[in-house]
Amino acid sequence: MRVDVVLGLQWGDEGKGKIVDALAEGYEVVARFQGGPNAGHTLYHHGQKVVLHQVPAGIFHDNVRCLIGDGVVIDPEILVQEVAGLSQMGVQVEERLYIGRSVHLILPVHRWLEAVSQDAEKIGTTRRGIGPAYADRYARRGIAIADLEKPDYHQRILELTAYHEKQFPGAPPVELSERFWEALESLRRLRWVSTYEWLRQHRRILAEGSQGTLLDVFAGSYPYVTSSHTTVAGACAGLLVAPREIGQVWGVIKAYATRVGAGPFPTEITGELAAWLQERGGERGSTTGRLRRCGWLDLPLLKYAIAINGVTALIVTKGDVLSGLPTVKVRVGGSDEAPRYEEFPGWESIADPNYEAFLRWIEAQTGIPVWAISTGPHRQDWQIRRKDLLVEKT
Ligand code: IMP
Repeated sequence: MRVDVVLGLQWGDEGKGKIVDALAEGYEVVARFQGGPNAGHTLYHHGQKVVLHQVPAGIFHDNVRCLIGDGVVIDPEILVQEVAGLSQMGVQVEERLYIGRSVHLILPVHRWLEAVSQDAEKIGTTRRGIGPAYADRYARRGIAIADLEKPDYHQRILELTAYHEKQFPGAPPVELSERFWEALESLRRLRWVSTYEWLRQHRRILAEGSQGTLLDVFAGSYPYVTSSHTTVAGACAGLLVAPREIGQVWGVIKAYATRVGAGPFPTEITGELAAWLQERGGERGSTTGRLRRCGWLDLPLLKYAIAINGVTALIVTKGDVLSGLPTVKVRVGGSDEAPRYEEFPGWESIADPNYEAFLRWIEAQTGIPVWAISTGPHRQDWQIRRKDLLVEKT
């Protein structure tokens, strides 16, 4: 068994979904290992825009099976809706989607907690109940998929709901709708598996990261982080694989940077240029619809992300968005308050030698090859740049 990993090396939204979709063909399985519906992987299938929140981005390849691995938390209502939507598009999702039995549930009370407490506001979360669901999981009172087989699951959900409600006496009660209970029932139609045993029946696995390295709960700018491990270590923990089984680690970066929600962003740009980037790059959250904060690429943070993940190859996206700028900047040092930048001559298009020079500079600075670049939003819009770097296929 070999597990290759696709990770975002910034604050998420690097374009991982598209890269996973493009790479998936060479794999038997595409597996998600952390996060939940806070993710939004935007893909184009037969020209139609699809945003996947919980289903792995390999689902559009008929020969690929998809796993939601144990490290993930799922929202039953959102998952059931997503599966129905994909089925309506003619995608054979129920036959090819597998869920780890230890995946935990995001319950209505978890979303409610994000609505009634101030914490979510402060961090600028996606309000999908991610933090509270992981908190319950780590506090050992969470509810896993496999618990739905036990006769007391209904009662346990009510008890957990009441437990949290007690902390906010004035707040309106949690609504446990008919739709929620039905969604739990519908989950039974999906294939539940032991992540460990099931993965071991396959040889070539692509692990799909969500969010980005700088949002990792340990490695990121705590508390302005998500509540899971977005790094390669998260792939090992969430899929129950050993570090030595990890092969290629694809690190995906944008040619600039974006961040959604609060937290430090040393290279942030404001004003007209930021508005231009938001517009040109479509920098609006695919889960929340919020405008993304924009900034320049940050080399010290990139080196950090490469180091903690053991990245073996880089994939650079959205260089095309910067086309037409007279100069492009990258932070090379200085402090977070006073970053020091290097300036590069801009490019007219990604075919412009100035863009190639920019990519070569990234390779020289990081010591990691830029294996491929993405050239636009659609499935076919990407190019392998380093044909000398062979990628093993099954
Ligand atoms: P949470 O994951 O909803 O708890 O949000 C925590 C932080 O991570 C917030 O700053 C969110 O904006 C950010 N975040 C969560 N998921 C994503 C994502 O898929 N892309 C970008 N940012 C995300």
